[in-house]
Amino acid sequence: MALREKIDEIRKGFSLDIDKSKTSKDVEDLKVKYLGRKGSVSSLMGLLKECTDQEKPLCGKLINDLKNEITNFCEEKIIDFSQKEVEKRLEEEYIDVTMPGREAYLGKYHPISQMTKQIVGILEGMGFSVESGPDLESDFYNFEGLNFPQEHPARDMQDSFFVTGDLLLRTHTSNVQVRVMEKSTPPIRVIAPGRCFRNETISSRSHVFFHQVEAFYIDEHVSFADLLATMDEFWQKLFGKKIKTRYRPSFFPFVEPGLEGDIACSVCSGEGCRLCKNTGWLEVIGAGMIHPEVLKAGGIDPEKYSGYAWGLGVERLAMLLYDIKDIRLFTENDMRFLSQF
Ligand code: PHE
Repeated sequence: MALREKIDEIRKGFSLDIDKSKTSKDVEDLKVKYLGRKGSVSSLMGLLKECTDQEKPLCGKLINDLKNEITNFCEEKIIDFSQKEVEKRLEEEYIDVTMPGREAYLGKYHPISQMTKQIVGILEGMGFSVESGPDLESDFYNFEGLNFPQEHPARDMQDSFFVTGDLLLRTHTSNVQVRVMEKSTPPIRVIAPGRCFRNETISSRSHVFFHQVEAFYIDEHVSFADLLATMDEFWQKLFGKKIKTRYRPSFFPFVEPGLEGDIACSVCSGEGCRLCKNTGWLEVIGAGMIHPEVLKAGGIDPEKYSGYAWGLGVERLAMLLYDIKDIRLFTENDMRFLSQF
């Protein structure tokens, strides 16, 4: 019977096809090929018409059996393949949750900013409040008002960066003193952190720009003893212990008497090294009693009031605290250096 042969042929063909199938998609395609409207099994229905009435029920059953057989086979295969496909995907997408994560890079404060914050924090705790002054300053606030005689060498182009006739990059944070005095009445307890500029040769210990924190206190009866006691308390708080200091008389036009303060060099512990120029000491502070002329320039009566002032070198202190041997490291922006802080 032609139909039977045809059925066998289709069955054989299907079994070859299904063996070749590799994915559930392949099997779906086979379903269309065999069971679809124009599929092989459907085409058998045409042949059914040619069967005798006697043969028809049997032939119909045979076609149906084939159809069911193919359907079942396909469903089973699809389930089988889908499972394998899911397993494979899971395997590919496997995540090792115990693997160390990628470290997120967090920005941080520059060591100079950190040092400044620390200094400012301590002094705020001691009753000082923060003021600021401009980097680009007039001769008056940087020099004249601070009692620099007209011919003082610090005004020389060698030391200062003049921008135009009267304007220069401030050489120290002392420019804030007269500015604050002009707008306040004592008691004045002010600190002023900021950047300063000097036309100097760059070396391991000095740079053309650096940072200072100015501090000054003006009131009735402020004495030299107040200055020394406040500095001592500040060092104690900054270093967390008593450290070796040395105060030497020194000259600044805007203080009288004036002093310079040194701290034992932490790099060589006093042995002498490049940082301390073999002296064993690092100069970190300039200080003194505010000169009466400066008080006058700021509109404060020197007969009634007195005050002290100091200027701290932030880089020097940071070098001391973190054992940094070269001031240039602060401005080279080398991440290997900066990320240590
Ligand atoms: N302005 C001085 C300097 O830059 C430091 C200083 C400040 C000295 C205040 C005395 C009083 O060296």
